[in-house]
Amino acid sequence: MELTVLNSESKAVALEGMSGFHTEWVGGSPRDGAKLLAQRECPMSHPVPEPSGRPLAPGERLPRGDRETLSSRAEEAIRALMVKYPDPLAATLPALYVAQEDMGFTSLAAMKAVARVLQIPEGHVYGVATFYTMYQKKPVGRFHIQVCTNLCCALRGGAQLFERLCERLKVHPGEVSPDGLWSVEEVECLGSCGSGPCLQVNQETYDEFVDDARLDQIIEACRCGDVPEWGK
Ligand code: FES
Repeated sequence: MELTVLNSESKAVALEGMSGFHTEWVGGSPRDGAKLLAQRECPMSHPVPEPSGRPLAPGERLPRGDRETLSSRAEEAIRALMVKYPDPLAATLPALYVAQEDMGFTSLAAMKAVARVLQIPEGHVYGVATFYTMYQKKPVGRFHIQVCTNLCCALRGGAQLFERLCERLKVHPGEVSPDGLWSVEEVECLGSCGSGPCLQVNQETYDEFVDDARLDQIIEACRCGDVPEWGK
């Protein structure tokens, strides 16, 4: 539980009774002249919105991740990206990829961290991250597998490949497996329409002409640590 001692009793009175705040007074109620002892933020208060509370800012309804900060390695990687572009705004997309890989998904904290390191407005990063579907805005598995089921891949068995993948991993689209390792997603196009069906694991590992045997090899490679995990 987070303890916040306020230096203004009038502010405490204003906040008293609002969602997520518990106020402690010494000597009765503030109206009887009691002194403010402390104000505590209730641990379960975020991010559930309350009708009577303040409106939530954009992004505050996004799920939170385990981590709120980037690793020093990821910060360095983002700084290295900055020098490649004449304007740091142009580094937003690759920097978000670095943050996503580092923090496991593109949480609001990841977006804020990118804005801080690039020294650009948080609103710009939020707008970019929420526009593109390749940034995962909710937790995914350490191996997030995307299968293309768009037309060209569909004609070559993309939908069946996706079904087999779900069966093999025992996970449904939109879920994360209980061990946290796997999540799956049906996507529109992975950019290799002549060599379907295609799939992609996280950001780097990409495969074409995926049949049953190749699917097993890919899953095994993930299990053996031959494929880099997100969030590690
Ligand atoms: S249709 Fe599958 S990669 Fe383009």
